[in-house]
Amino acid sequence: MKRNCIWLLSLVILAACQMKEKKRDLPAPKMYEPSEMALLMRQMHALNEQAKAQIVAGKEVGLYPKELANLHSAAMTDPSERDAEFDSLAVRFLYYQKKAFGPHTEETKVNYNKSIATCIACHQTRCVGPIPKIKKLFID
Ligand code: HEC
Repeated sequence: MKRNCIWLLSLVILAACQMKEKKRDLPAPKMYEPSEMALLMRQMHALNEQAKAQIVAGKEVGLYPKELANLHSAAMTDPSERDAEFDSLAVRFLYYQKKAFGPHTEETKVNYNKSIATCIACHQTRCVGPIPKIKKLFID
């Protein structure tokens, strides 16, 4: 029995190695590389999902993550999307996020929802795809 397992394990490892080998032989495919901004957005989404759960539970949301300020500088798939409107929406978004994070107060939920409304405001003007996903972040 033990022997069989070891055999099976070596087979799996062998197969895995061969698969890797095969991949390397292929000509480098042109893969979709998410931009710095896209990665930051995914992080923001995850962070706010977590924040929503904490706010709903009446718990303190951790401290405001400093890396969100990268919103002002992160490289975008389409750099022309960074205009004056983008910058002012980014400032507004960060303003309400900062207020929603940290100690829980009576205003936490309102500030949090205002920041999510700003996610949507920015997305309405340049990147409508994720809007349904973002709407789920609102706290009723
Ligand atoms: C100031 C404008 C702005 C704000 C605010 C904003 N976004 Fe975005 N978002 C963008 C832009 C522009 C892109 C496209 C990024 C790219 O492809 O380089 C994007 C992309 C995304 C993506 C797709 C990422 C991917 O995988 O390609 C998601 C998801 C997302 N945003 C969620 C959010 C969430 C959640 C919030 C609020 C917590 C938010 N966004 C706030 C402008 C904004």
